[in-house]
Amino acid sequence: NKGKYEHYMQKEIHEQPESLTTTMRGRLIRGGSCKAKSVLLGGLKDHLRTIRRSRRIVFIGCGTSYNAALAARPILEELSGIPVTMEIASDLVDRQGPIYREDTTVFVSQSGETADTLQALEYALENGALCVGITNTVGSAIARHTHCGIHLNAGCEIGVASTKAYTSQIVVMAMLALAIGDDTISSQGRREAIIDGLFDLPNKVKEVLKLDEEMKDLAKLLIAEQSLLVFGRGYNYATALEGALKVKEVSLMHSEGILAGEMKHGPLALVDETLPIVVIATRDTCFSKQQSVIQQLHARKGRLIVMCSKGDAASVSVGGSCRVVEVPVVEDCLQPVINIVPLQLLAYHLTVLRGYNVDQPRNLAKSVTTQ
Ligand code: M6R
Repeated sequence: NKGKYEHYMQKEIHEQPESLTTTMRGRLIRGGSCKAKSVLLGGLKDHLRTIRRSRRIVFIGCGTSYNAALAARPILEELSGIPVTMEIASDLVDRQGPIYREDTTVFVSQSGETADTLQALEYALENGALCVGITNTVGSAIARHTHCGIHLNAGCEIGVASTKAYTSQIVVMAMLALAIGDDTISSQGRREAIIDGLFDLPNKVKEVLKLDEEMKDLAKLLIAEQSLLVFGRGYNYATALEGALKVKEVSLMHSEGILAGEMKHGPLALVDETLPIVVIATRDTCFSKQQSVIQQLHARKGRLIVMCSKGDAASVSVGGSCRVVEVPVVEDCLQPVINIVPLQLLAYHLTVLRGYNVDQPRNLAKSVTTQ
């Protein structure tokens, strides 16, 4: 049931304040006079000691689920102190890459039925790794075959383009990082700040959803373009990949997410006065580097659309020449949850304006159960 919305993708984008609330429900502990704020993940509590002792954490997924894991990787590395590596499921299987008994492998999948991810799971089980599942579908193959796991509780996602599952996946993996790091006194302040940020996140998502009309106007400007680049780095490298994936999969416009640190190693050659480029430059430790990227793209006459933190327009728009999208500020590791929303809205409006099927893009299936 689409309710007041025209399409499932639109409905699922707009219900993110609620889906995030249900993802966090009962899992965040507010703390009290003598009790610290903490996270409770029922499905994981018997395995946390093993995870903390593992030599490596390996995230495995496809498409949007892979991107969500990429967004969570920095905070997991920071709070756990354990090396975190990333695997696209099909590539791990193609390479028969090394997976060891001392590894914790984390399988991320909205449907829990993706063939490549399931095959990678079988492979990790054969190699003796601890297997953790993060899925949205209770009783799915990945939920059943992993040793333990966390459900997203984001509600059923119908649009082929994953939207609310993505933001819930990031939140679940941030909670996973908090739970693993829970025994480290030195990072308690940081963890409590993130927990406060999680409590406030649904309100901030409500706020960023108010950009709907602005993103529709932007879509009108971009409607006839051939291509759109999206530059991000740090916490928002994933936002660049995921924003580009949304645009290409539903609006059928070529789009590429680029790690801004790689700009001079090839992508800069594409920049001219015609190609539109989104640069994500919200406040975090990478901000000054992104300011410099903007200046260099501007020097090559790039058509820039800059996403920045509220109040930062003047600091990112060189000579007032860029189009600026201002978003609410949250804790740095949660910022990808906010930053993807305008790009989801852009992809949605571009698709509708270009006259394509937004809920069922050509050639794609919601769940990829064959290889
Ligand atoms: O169900 P899964 O999360 O395992 O699906 C993985 C990908 O097929 C999926 O995320 C795909 O990339 C989406 N259609 C992207 O919006």
